[in-house]
Amino acid sequence: MIIAVDGPAASGKGTIARALARHYQLPHLDTGMLYRAVGLSVARAGGDPDNEADALAACGFDDALLTDPELRSEAIGALASRVSIHAAVRNALVKRQRDFAGQTGGAVLDGRDIGTVIAPDADVKLFVTASPEMRAQRRMRELQDHGLAADLDALVADIRARDARDTNRAVAPLKQAQGAVLLDTSDLSIEAAVRQAILLVDAQVEGQRTN
Ligand code: DC
Repeated sequence: MIIAVDGPAASGKGTIARALARHYQLPHLDTGMLYRAVGLSVARAGGDPDNEADALAACGFDDALLTDPELRSEAIGALASRVSIHAAVRNALVKRQRDFAGQTGGAVLDGRDIGTVIAPDADVKLFVTASPEMRAQRRMRELQDHGLAADLDALVADIRARDARDTNRAVAPLKQAQGAVLLDTSDLSIEAAVRQAILLVDAQVEGQRTN
């Protein structure tokens, strides 16, 4: 079974995808980490993330980079969003994601274009969202939990800027895939959101079985 989980930054999609992978005993790929690795490589090479050739050159990053804790920072998230608008970068990362999705037994992938581009034939598609204010509050709590200072207004502004870039880009923009079920986590705890996601997956699988 292939489960595609898409949605904007800090919507809860990563937590939900990890929980679904555990529940259905499937391998999981957080595809945002690939774009983050490209963003970090460009920065370290002194390249320009808005320049397609510089960003493409960074796609051959060493896999060890995928475990670098710096990848999770807000700054690298913003760089990832910038490198991800280039068609050449997206093409360079497609095979790796499709191979992961196509492994025997299936997989859970989360990102922005899993249900639309990477695995349009996924058995189950979820589109996870939440209001920008709620997402910013969650990000702030996460940063504070790690002992980092955070400003709510700045986080809301960053999230809105990232949404605009991810949604309005020409190639593989963030959008709810055809057949994807919407899960708004604004008013849900993590536990409730995960429970709801499992119910939605089971319902989609059951619906296909009886069709
Ligand atoms: O999910 P994330 O915040 O780690 O993603 C970081 C950026 O990477 C996101 O703003 C846009 C890009 N991205 C993408 O374009 N396609 C994906 N499948 C995953 C991430």
